[in-house]
Amino acid sequence: MSQSGPAKPASARASSALSGAVRMPGDKSVSHRALMLGGLASGETRISGLLEGDDIMATAAAMRAMGAGIRKSGEEWVVHGVGNGCLLEPEDTLDFGNAGTGVRLVMGLAGVYDMCARFTGDASLLRRPMGRVLEPLRLMGVQVEAAEGDRLPLSLHGPRAANPVTYTLPVASAQVKSAVLLAGLNTPGVTTVVEPVATRDHTENMLRAFGAQIEIETNSSGARRIAIEGQGDLTGQTVTVPGDPSSAAFPIVAALITHGSDVTIENVMMNPARTGLIATLLEMGAVIDVTNERNEGGEDVADLRVRSSDLKGVVVPSDRAPSMIDEYPVLAVAASFAEGETVMEGIEELRVKESDRLAAMADGLEVNGVDCSAGHDWLKVRGHPGGKGLGAMTEEAVVETHLDHRIAMSFLVFGLAAEHGSRIDDASMIATSFPGFVDLMTGLGAGMEVSP
Ligand code: S3P
Repeated sequence: MSQSGPAKPASARASSALSGAVRMPGDKSVSHRALMLGGLASGETRISGLLEGDDIMATAAAMRAMGAGIRKSGEEWVVHGVGNGCLLEPEDTLDFGNAGTGVRLVMGLAGVYDMCARFTGDASLLRRPMGRVLEPLRLMGVQVEAAEGDRLPLSLHGPRAANPVTYTLPVASAQVKSAVLLAGLNTPGVTTVVEPVATRDHTENMLRAFGAQIEIETNSSGARRIAIEGQGDLTGQTVTVPGDPSSAAFPIVAALITHGSDVTIENVMMNPARTGLIATLLEMGAVIDVTNERNEGGEDVADLRVRSSDLKGVVVPSDRAPSMIDEYPVLAVAASFAEGETVMEGIEELRVKESDRLAAMADGLEVNGVDCSAGHDWLKVRGHPGGKGLGAMTEEAVVETHLDHRIAMSFLVFGLAAEHGSRIDDASMIATSFPGFVDLMTGLGAGMEVSP
């Protein structure tokens, strides 16, 4: 999986109105966690709506390598778990491909075991910082051998009995929070994570549903203290994975910027820790009707009717970043067609995603003629309503995606409303999170093509 295949260049062209209804694939964050907890819990877990992207399949392979039984049966995934505390030593290196969430969470889950586990990934993952997870694991007694700068490839060997810690997150990261909580599952006593800023809460919710003893306190400023009692029993569950709001972001923005569009996006998870983009788009003047609100498998879910809208630039405050951390690239696309300036503040974390997303966004916008400026932790985009003069004017105007699925999808969406369309160097990474993306978009009427 670390060997990426040949690049697949792709293009989008200025398109007329998008219309129709589409259903979102399963949420990536919830899908990873369902396989991890299902693989760990005693008995059977049945998962419906699992995202079948490459990132999730890497997590499935890792859990199988540590003893879990995972197979597809009809529309469901059936997992037979080993029982908490009973993961087996993996014989081979666990290869997570492009998946930061997969590798970081499994490092927590397996790292505290008294066994040797080796981890690697693709070129993008090898560049990403792992120290943020290794630091708390070291405090718990884990021996680490890592490449320079605490990067992959690395190996972990846990102690006989891990040390329960109280760990305050130095960065707002659900991945780090989750890694420590999952490590706490195989640690005697109580492991506590303090998060000064709330991040997505899927790990806590799912741990509780599987039977973990977990207590959460939230103070008046929104800081959360999450305590998990180690070495308890986990029991297999039935999990319904809601649709991914981070994937929904692409058809949402596509419909907003493509003149005359009227699109319904079904099955979108509306967990408030994930809806920052929708809040921002509404502030920009987007016409988005939230319909058919319901609760499915413990998460709020809705259908969204999105119509093309005259957007206006806004200031996106830094405290909104955790609730839309993966949506800034596509927000920058919406901002490119808005009237006035959009300012995104406090987005330094984008520099350590699948690519340096802040740089990739700014470069991609510039290649397509959008007026923007960037600093270490901010981006300003001055919009061009109507998209006249924007897009791939010359043969050289190709966006570099740097193995980043969200940069690839964002700049294909961009081309739908740009006079000269858009071109990207590689669409292959889209399969990590949204395998049916191009077909789904063309089904709505979008002009998109991937080279064979
Ligand atoms: C994720 C958390 C986020 C997000 C990633 C998925 C998760 O990362 O960017 O795509 O599932 O926990 P950080 O928590 O590191 O910001």
